[in-house]
Amino acid sequence: DLIHEINGLSKIEKKLEKYLGISKAIVVPGDLEKDSTVLKEMGRIAALHVKNLIQDNSIIAVTGGSSVAQVVDNFPKINKQNLLVVPARGGIGRVIETQASTLAAKLAIKIGANHKLFHVPDNLSYEALEKMINEPEIKETISYISKADILIFGIGSAKEMAKRRGLREEQIEKLINNGAVSEAFGYYFGKNGEFVYKAPTIGLHFDDVKNIKHIIAIAGGKNKADAIISTKTQNPNMVLVADEGVAREIINIK
Ligand code: G3H
Repeated sequence: DLIHEINGLSKIEKKLEKYLGISKAIVVPGDLEKDSTVLKEMGRIAALHVKNLIQDNSIIAVTGGSSVAQVVDNFPKINKQNLLVVPARGGIGRVIETQASTLAAKLAIKIGANHKLFHVPDNLSYEALEKMINEPEIKETISYISKADILIFGIGSAKEMAKRRGLREEQIEKLINNGAVSEAFGYYFGKNGEFVYKAPTIGLHFDDVKNIKHIIAIAGGKNKADAIISTKTQNPNMVLVADEGVAREIINIK
């Protein structure tokens, strides 16, 4: 729209799309690091975008995090039938309000959908995970995740997310030494989007992501510039909702 043109945001969006190799960038005016209310606006804009994608029988997967929480909180009413919301992954070592399961349940209530939950903590031993994966209820939820039509997810810096997920100091150091820059849906990626490490938890598999028709990332704040750049080349059909601050930062870095 007009404001977008005047602020030069449309141009920035085009540059971002080209540089990141994604299908669409939506840049919200303002700098999230200076003004925390920008995140709410990012959530509102992302929610409007997602709303238009939802059809009868859609399956929507969501990750946790404060950014996705804003999408859920600002989701408008919709009138579609037989919707399902699933958490993209198991629990996460952070406040319950922003866990994937909590957000999935909240969104489901808002849009009149059914939901499936995971009650699985992060950082389980592989033996415990193995057992859980074979629990019928968990198996069922996982099967829905791989059939999702829409994925809404946050992107974090690897270090920050490893801390939030309760990795030990030496594990964090190893992760960073191995080149991890970003984290999304439990996977850690290197500078050029290469896979570095997967958190031991249940849920969305990286291979599933390519099969999901609509992938919407919401991430902002200049400190996420490298993390956002590192998701480049993975998702040509990705839509990114970001703030102007990080968008300008990415364009300057490249
Ligand atoms: O996986 C990355 C995180 O979901 C990002 O969390 O939105 O709270 O920064 P955040």
